[in-house]
Amino acid sequence: MELIDGNRIAAAIVAELKAEVAAVTGRKPCLALVRVGEDPASVSYVKKKEQTAAEIGIEGRLILPPVTITQAELLAEVDRLNADENVDGILVQSPLPAGLDEREIFGRIDPTKDVDGLHPLNLGKVAQDDDSGFAACTPSGVMELLARSGVDLRGRHVVVLGRSLLVGKPVALLALQKKAGANATVTICHSGTANLAALTRQADVLIAAIGRAEFVTADMVKPGAVVIDVGVSRVPDATRKSGYRLSGDVHFASVAPIAAKITPVPGGVGPMTVSMLMRNTVLAHRRRLASPPGSSRKSAP
Ligand SMILES: NC(=O)c1ccc[n+]([C@@H]2O[C@H](COP(=O)([O-])OP(=O)(O)OC[C@H]3O[C@@H](n4cnc5c(N)ncnc54)[C@H](OP(=O)(O)O)[C@@H]3O)[C@@H](O)[C@H]2O)c1
Repeated sequence: MELIDGNRIAAAIVAELKAEVAAVTGRKPCLALVRVGEDPASVSYVKKKEQTAAEIGIEGRLILPPVTITQAELLAEVDRLNADENVDGILVQSPLPAGLDEREIFGRIDPTKDVDGLHPLNLGKVAQDDDSGFAACTPSGVMELLARSGVDLRGRHVVVLGRSLLVGKPVALLALQKKAGANATVTICHSGTANLAALTRQADVLIAAIGRAEFVTADMVKPGAVVIDVGVSRVPDATRKSGYRLSGDVHFASVAPIAAKITPVPGGVGPMTVSMLMRNTVLAHRRRLASPPGSSRKSAP
């Protein structure tokens, strides 16, 4: 069994981006990070994004509206960032507090600044094998982990557990794309799937993204499969100071011995999500400079 080290691969990507940004002579890339309220998980995610941006040389612009912000006010904030020519990427941290309509907010972000890849136009481009948009960060992180671990999906059976717009659907679409590194045969499973274990046992590559701690056990995995664990759940653990530990969707202790390659939780997919956000931001900046607003060339995407 080979452990796929997301921390190491993400660090390599950050180093590559740092070198790319260092070579930028003019305005550096700028990422607006919008965090509404003080949800502890969101605070720590945004902090990590801010730190990684700073490490690369990306300007991080932190916007911290109060939890009382209205939908109209948040939309107006997005409009301001859309209109700001010095902002290349906009991230609105999910989940938003109850009462705010996330879909409408994500859909309001200028697709050329949607570095989180959650705008419907960008998801549509992924479905069209069109690289001119942005793929969502966690799914593209999974693809990058596979590529950099020497796993070519061509002709292989990829089984995705979960069909969310954030992870399951886009990762299935990316694996399905008719291009190098992809070209897989894809099955998507969800809570309505019958005979789930019979399907997962057929997977050459199993991608679990359901948010159920240790759901995938050894009897559900084909020996020699590659297992990518996207799930992150907090499991009560009295031996920890925090009172919990993080667990993936895969029962690591029983699955790791039979897998060819496997990601740990934490330290697998998680770090990749942040590095893909940074890669998208650097890409957005490059595209913006190549095709500034008001130029005669059609701006991407
Ligand atoms: N590491 C990272 O950077 C990162 C990023 C994003 C998400 N995550 C983690 O990934 C996990 C999934 O996230 P998400 O946003 O996709 O979650 P989500 O929106 O809750 O979607 C979960 C999906 O799993 C399916 N599902 C739930 N229970 C199932 C079961 N028993 N059998 C089969 N399918 C089942 C659901 O099916 P239905 O559609 O039928 O309800 C749904 O499609 C979570 O643990 C989340 O924390 C990690």
